[in-house]
Amino acid sequence: MAVKEPGKKTAKLQDTLNEQLANWWVMYVKLHHFHWYVKGPHFPVLHVKFEELYEMAAKKLDELAERMLAIGLEPSSTMKEYLSVSHIKEGGKAGADDTDILETIVDDFAKMVDGLKKATQIAEEEFEDTATADMLNEHIEDLQKQMWMLNATIGK
Ligand SMILES: [Fe+2]
Repeated sequence: MAVKEPGKKTAKLQDTLNEQLANWWVMYVKLHHFHWYVKGPHFPVLHVKFEELYEMAAKKLDELAERMLAIGLEPSSTMKEYLSVSHIKEGGKAGADDTDILETIVDDFAKMVDGLKKATQIAEEEFEDTATADMLNEHIEDLQKQMWMLNATIGK
């Protein structure tokens, strides 16, 4: 493990992991928005699906923060910090139709995957921290699976 000593280099890993943490937090709130406000004939199915997704977000963000603590890093813990570094834009179109919502989630998940890939690379190549990289790769795998299913629901 190459992250025992705090310093400029360690800050790079901490910053990139905090960005991924922020993405999960903003997505967690955003998925609740869709869970509550989705309209139309597919409401029963989508309402349940979005609950599954925000539960996934809750699990991932806690796992990531606790991994950071385990390797001596400080996970951000305020909404202010999350909103300032997240790649995900908050909110959504209340009452938007279900296809709009699904496309928004797929776009957001794609942004998260991009961020996670960069973080994985930093963890692996600059810190030789394969355990953190493995965890991030699992996040990527789960997001990509959901993207496939959401796209299939839209008919893409
Ligand atoms: Fe609910």
